[in-house]
Amino acid sequence: MLLGATGSIGRSARRVIAAHPDRLELVGIAAQRNWQELAAIAREFRVGHVAIEDPAVADAADAAHAFPAGTAVHRGAAGLHALATLREADIVLVAVVGTAGLEPSLAALAAGKDLALASKEILVLAGSFVLAAARASGARLLPVDSEHAAVAQCLEHQPSRSVRRIVLTASGGAFRDWPLDQLARVTPADALRHPNWSMGPKITVDSATLANKGLELIEAQCLFGLRPEQCQAVLHPQSIAHCLVEFLDGTMLAQLSPPSMTFPIQRALLHPDTAPGTDDALDLGKLLSLEFRPIDESRFPLFALARHVMEAGRSAPAVYNAANEVAVAAFLGHGLPFLAISQVVDQVLQAFPHRLPASLEDVLAIDAAARRLAEAAVARHA
Ligand SMILES: NC(=O)c1ccc[n+]([C@@H]2O[C@H](COP(=O)([O-])OP(=O)(O)OC[C@H]3O[C@@H](n4cnc5c(N)ncnc54)[C@H](OP(=O)(O)O)[C@@H]3O)[C@@H](O)[C@H]2O)c1
Repeated sequence: MLLGATGSIGRSARRVIAAHPDRLELVGIAAQRNWQELAAIAREFRVGHVAIEDPAVADAADAAHAFPAGTAVHRGAAGLHALATLREADIVLVAVVGTAGLEPSLAALAAGKDLALASKEILVLAGSFVLAAARASGARLLPVDSEHAAVAQCLEHQPSRSVRRIVLTASGGAFRDWPLDQLARVTPADALRHPNWSMGPKITVDSATLANKGLELIEAQCLFGLRPEQCQAVLHPQSIAHCLVEFLDGTMLAQLSPPSMTFPIQRALLHPDTAPGTDDALDLGKLLSLEFRPIDESRFPLFALARHVMEAGRSAPAVYNAANEVAVAAFLGHGLPFLAISQVVDQVLQAFPHRLPASLEDVLAIDAAARRLAEAAVARHA
């Protein structure tokens, strides 16, 4: 089952599935609006179930007889839920941008489906509830983010008490080497030019601000049960080493692969089994240099904020995530200056009356309240 089938992760996942027809079968696909692409995928993979989150778009697709005869077309939030819990699905890959995949993720876990999770925002918003749902049903939570898939691989067969820290790597995004005084004038087109990875627009902007690495530190803390000071990151411009894990005795393991999401997706979908990769492995016959350097937090204020948020806990991660999502959308669509993204997030974090979320409903209320504050902060920047 593939939620977010038309996006960048969705594309890589389809390549993995097509490369392993003896092992993997796609039984359903979902997206928000892109029914033309969903229809093409439905034909190529002969899937029986499609969900379109926007009901009006689902109606238009139905009217246009977009899908092969016999395809069940589900609509709206209920449609995503239906796919996440479909009897035929063993594993649900959630690759919906932002937090719209939270309810289907929880539903999949409650139904005992293994969850391959690409949408890091979900763990930042409601990580403890997702972990609890997995514990309750015994379903597996498999990280798809390349850094977390890499950490999970390095930690296999290692007792957790032997881990001193994990270090995630960051490419530094589109503006890693730009002079600071030029950042005030960058456009969305500039921010969307990532040096190494081809990804959806939101995560590409998050890579340029390093909010992406901040979200990933919080995701790692949640997934691996680590203290904040055990979750760190370094710049690694080549995006070949995806993590370093340091053990108590001072030794380190690193996980290396070319910068293609097919590697972590395939590991999640086939785990604990394995198979030849969808893409070629690293070619050590070519010059390969690996460079690591510390992150200059004065250059990446959203990364510094994420570290504070991780220490603060309570509602801070959910508020950081919501404010960032609103600010990035405003940068991409409504002319919010690039440097104002971190200012909006900072203002919302400071204004928010933080509390320990009492329930999942409370988490959603915190998310909604933070979004309202962020919209107001964006309006003040207009
Ligand atoms: N791209 C990467 O390399 C990468 C790496 C690690 C983690 N991730 C994470 O994976 C997630 C997806 O990233 P992406 O780069 O693949 O994003 P993307 O290219 O923008 O694709 C987003 C997908 O989500 C669907 N979608 C959006 N809103 C939806 C909603 N309300 N209900 C149902 N479907 C919805 C979109 O459908 P439409 O096409 O109809 O809009 C599309 O299929 C993000 O959380 C990101 O942080 C991505």
